Amino acid sequence: MNVGIDKIGFFTPNYYVDMVDLAHARNDDPNKYLIGIGQTEQAVIPNTQDTVAMAANAAVQILDDDNRDKISLIILGTETGIDNSKSGAIYLQNLLGLSRHARAFEIKQACYGATAGIQMAKDFVNLHPDQQALVVGADVARYGVETPGEVTQGGGAVAMTIAANPEIMKLSKNSSVYSDDIMDFWRPMDRTEALVDGHYSNDIYQQFFVKTIHDYLETNDMQLTDLQALVFHLPYTKMGLKGLREILPEVDEAKQKSLLNEFEASRVYSKRVGNLYTGSLYLSLLSLLDNSTDLKVGDQIGIFSYGSGAQGEFYTGELQAGFKNPIRKANMEKMLDSRTRLSVSEYETMLNQWPKLDAGDYTLDVKNDKAEFTFNGVSESKRQYQSKN
Ligand code: HMG
Repeated sequence: MNVGIDKIGFFTPNYYVDMVDLAHARNDDPNKYLIGIGQTEQAVIPNTQDTVAMAANAAVQILDDDNRDKISLIILGTETGIDNSKSGAIYLQNLLGLSRHARAFEIKQACYGATAGIQMAKDFVNLHPDQQALVVGADVARYGVETPGEVTQGGGAVAMTIAANPEIMKLSKNSSVYSDDIMDFWRPMDRTEALVDGHYSNDIYQQFFVKTIHDYLETNDMQLTDLQALVFHLPYTKMGLKGLREILPEVDEAKQKSLLNEFEASRVYSKRVGNLYTGSLYLSLLSLLDNSTDLKVGDQIGIFSYGSGAQGEFYTGELQAGFKNPIRKANMEKMLDSRTRLSVSEYETMLNQWPKLDAGDYTLDVKNDKAEFTFNGVSESKRQYQSKN
């Protein structure tokens, strides 16, 4: 049976900071940010958009009368969840008006959470082909002002429905995984910003990529030339390029050129958003689907997921008849183009307005937030959300 990604939607809030502005403010050469890191803009997340609100804003775009009642599994992959006990998926189920008979929970393993959700959802739909799963990866990537990680911040959510006979991509039955106890990036319970050993994290990412892609190709009797494109978890877009360059010498010049072209298509959106942790890999998939001019139905895409700590996974997907969607692409471009450009000091103010862990009860002013779902604050230690519709 064909099981895979039927629909995909993305949300990022209405603000960004330009990477040239940030480079000037930090006395860095703009080319370090634009070329060395591979980022042109960075999403700035207002305090009225947390993981749950962004997840709901992404998911609402892909729900319709046809799939809504079929969703009986709701998985939120996140590493910036909003409660140490209750899952964001339960809030999501309620905000989206999904069935009370759906199983709803959250998964955490750094940026790998959404992939874990997809693999689980794929197995679920294989057993229950008349049902569907909603998998969302949503996060706010924060390192703090004037840290080395600052240029790799961002945030947003990617939502996908996993179904039998999918419109977009059939997922491979097999995948290759590799995990190890690595301190490359982590966030202790008392912190809202991640701690990171940046250069070490780059090395581990590359090692896990090479291990898992080689293992996948070998155990599935495939060649690199069988893949028309590769998509990567993109904490910053140069990271994917570093991964790709590790394996390019294994193919001839023409294939190298075509894989590099597809990679460019896969990083168009992430360049403008930055890291969104769990959703980043699927934002690069969405970018590939929307921006590649050469891909066709039946093409095989290699998919590399990486979550610090660390877990890597490589699997593949086969493009299906509905993988191109001009309306989805137009909406995506509109969302990115209509954002407000913040000055660096406005960005810093917004970053510092992020609620502290011990903030207690508070009410947020949501009148400037045009998104359908907003986070409105905390009352009696309970998070308050609002749907405008
Ligand atoms: P840094 O030390 O500020 O930067 O940290 P750098 O000195 O290494 O320079 C970066 C690149 O810019 C280098 O290229 C320079 O040569 C180049 P590379 O050697 O890497 O190819 N460069 C220039 N290029 C053109 N013109 C110039 C110029 N100057 C320099 N003028 C670092 C960079 C990414 C380490 C830092 O931003 C950081 O710590 N970021 C956060 C960690 C991260 O994103 N790690 C990625 C792998 S781990 C991962 O993906 C998981 C994660 O998403 C979390 C999760 O799983 O939950 C992070």
